[in-house]
Amino acid sequence: MKATAEAPANIAFIKYWGNADANLRLPHHNTISMNLSGAKTTTTVEFVSSLDADEVFLGGSKVDGTGAERVSKVLDHIRKISGNKQRARVTTHNSFPTAAGIASSASGFAALAVAAASAAGLSLTEQELSTVARLGSGSATRSIPDGFVEWHAGSSHETSFAESLYAPEYWDIVDIITVVDADQKKVSSTLGHSLADTSLLYPARLASMKEKVESVKRALAEKDFPRFGELIEEESLNLHAIMMTSRPSVLYWSPATVRVLQALREWRQEGLLAYSTMDAGANVHVITRGEDETAVTQRLQALKGVEKTILGKPAAGAHLVK
Ligand code: DP6
Repeated sequence: MKATAEAPANIAFIKYWGNADANLRLPHHNTISMNLSGAKTTTTVEFVSSLDADEVFLGGSKVDGTGAERVSKVLDHIRKISGNKQRARVTTHNSFPTAAGIASSASGFAALAVAAASAAGLSLTEQELSTVARLGSGSATRSIPDGFVEWHAGSSHETSFAESLYAPEYWDIVDIITVVDADQKKVSSTLGHSLADTSLLYPARLASMKEKVESVKRALAEKDFPRFGELIEEESLNLHAIMMTSRPSVLYWSPATVRVLQALREWRQEGLLAYSTMDAGANVHVITRGEDETAVTQRLQALKGVEKTILGKPAAGAHLVK
């Protein structure tokens, strides 16, 4: 009744923003991501007959409130399909500093889904595990399969799942996570999703997504890095335009965010190809080719306001460790 799993964070190239069904976390369109080697969560789940409520510990501290409720939602689903009624003790820790401003919900809920299913004696397919992870956090769906991943939006719990497009070795690109603000984000992504359709730009975003997903998949298939980079940077800016024009407006950027975005444009003029993509926060994920990793990292670290960089290489998905 006990199992431990490990899962990577992931960076989305096509972003999930807004829900067709907020309870099931069903998105409006497919999204595409890459798992990150440099940021992972390890989680142990133990079902214990003497517990009368689930207990959650993150890095040694007890988690209460919404965080604990989201964990119980995933555990309730596992209890429902396994018939096991026991409550669980969940202990989890992140390989990256929790205060680094990097989302831990994707790696956290992916590791939870794999560990809880195994602890309950279930042997679920990768596709089923990705649907279970989704109940805790949408982006966690994509941290189950390996490498480069597509999340199929679907229209029900069973049909909204992720699958691997390519193994981690497929393409030597890296994500240099550029930390400019290590504080917890001011507006959670869960709240942000609920505001998406208050932006007048949101219908235009949704209308463009199918074609954008196809274009990014084509650039991936052709390993056309400049095309890929242009597409993912535009997609991320489109997402942030939605955030900024929501009611109320959500502005995640800091002055150092803009400094990084401008620097990348200058470096591209010089022929050093690096592109940005950003989640719900001020930090910038800088995507570049493996051969340019050192040059880009050195330049990023020299910019004013950059606190540190964390390297993410394409990585395997969630798996059991014990
Ligand atoms: C901007 O998966 O964090 O990072 O389901 O409420 O946990 P919840 O939201 P979450 O949203 C991710 C938003 C994003 C884009 C992405 O990763 O696709």
